[in-house]
Amino acid sequence: MQKLVSFTKRRGFIFPSSEIYGGFGSCYDYGPLGVEMKRNIKNSWWNEMTRIQKDVVGLDASILMSPKVWEASGHLTAGFADELVDCKKCHHRFRKDFLEEAGGKCPDCGGELTKPRKFNLMMKTFVGPVEDESSATYLRAETCQGIYTNFKNVLQSMRMKIPFGIAQIGKAFRNEINPKDFIFRTREFEQMEMQWFCDPKTTDKFFEYWLKQRLNWYYKLGISKKNLRTYEVPKKDLAHYAKRAVDIEYKFPFGWKEIEGIHNRGDWDLSNHAKNSGEDLKYEGYYPHIIETSVGADRSFFAFLAEAYQEIKGGRNEEGESNKEMEVHFNIHRSLAPLKVAVLPLVKNKPEIVKKAKKIYETLKTEFATVYDQTGSIGRRYRRLDEVGCIFAVTIDFDTLENDEVTVRNRDTMKQERVKIENLAECLRKQL
Ligand code: GAP
Repeated sequence: MQKLVSFTKRRGFIFPSSEIYGGFGSCYDYGPLGVEMKRNIKNSWWNEMTRIQKDVVGLDASILMSPKVWEASGHLTAGFADELVDCKKCHHRFRKDFLEEAGGKCPDCGGELTKPRKFNLMMKTFVGPVEDESSATYLRAETCQGIYTNFKNVLQSMRMKIPFGIAQIGKAFRNEINPKDFIFRTREFEQMEMQWFCDPKTTDKFFEYWLKQRLNWYYKLGISKKNLRTYEVPKKDLAHYAKRAVDIEYKFPFGWKEIEGIHNRGDWDLSNHAKNSGEDLKYEGYYPHIIETSVGADRSFFAFLAEAYQEIKGGRNEEGESNKEMEVHFNIHRSLAPLKVAVLPLVKNKPEIVKKAKKIYETLKTEFATVYDQTGSIGRRYRRLDEVGCIFAVTIDFDTLENDEVTVRNRDTMKQERVKIENLAECLRKQL
């Protein structure tokens, strides 16, 4: 875990928020490589849902919504609260369910703990200049509520027919008592949620369908089967809206943990919103039931990161010499890799080579996530690129000046091939 945290900071993936002020809560910022990779994950999910799957359309609802939404959804009542205990000695606060391993004593000082009490997780804020109860609302705690409130709008404007789905990616906020494990549990995070509206008689079939599709998405993107499992949530632990839930769990450095939930929400959401708003949210006389797939963009980022990070000792370099130092290889799936191409002039003190390399870089960067690097030996530059999972390295050398050919090195096969500059973009495009 410590290695992953320092790797992500050192190589520009993730920084602690407000770091110059000593950090802030459990907030994190995505750096230049992190933002590319996270965007690739979101694009892959979006593509899967709205292009590869059938009958799923997109939405982008606002984060701030009427507080009536959260009354109707059950989030303001006991349903959306964790049990909290305080330490009587050091006054630290803990989620009760996290303490069961610690024997009921304060894990920080061993002090006695108070009786548990409910703590609502909604983040409160005020809309407008007056800070009183009439202007209070909440940052959304799950993105899907914006989907339910727009169910009728989408149904009518897009002339949808049941069954169909609505997909959305966006920020959600929860006032977590114990944010922990880096980007695994934070107070601000991003969700990728799809709500499938269907006939109540078909929920079991669609539950199985979506669970399978979601597992396949991870496999397609390089998560190995041994690191992924499903967990049927026992009835007593179900969220207030759920009739059935299966978690998709990933084997993190700190154990098996949920990265995605597949939920049968029944008619909980549409019937409650209909009751509270007075709008008719029925379809052909019944409330469609909802199968939900809900994954955290940050949590899945963490899973892809943990899966791709590898330390290699004693391997062989391109010249066949054995490497004595520990090397990091980032074997991220090519579609998620933050960098696709690096352009490397063999030497930096030969103006014709540098000029040619810069020209190639300018062309490629408009199409691929590309970097230009002329510092250090070629071997050292390859190492740096392997460390962040860059797929191709294009080297411009003395021969290039004669025959307009460059060397393309492939991260995964370590193979090198000579390619004509005029065919370079097409060659990379094909392989990516
Ligand atoms: N709409 C259903 C829903 O929100 P959830 O199980 O509470 O269900 C779904 O959350 C996913 O959102 C989780 O599997 C996780 O990936 C992500 N998530 C939830 N709380 C989070 C937190 N505090 N930090 C990061 N990700 C979180």
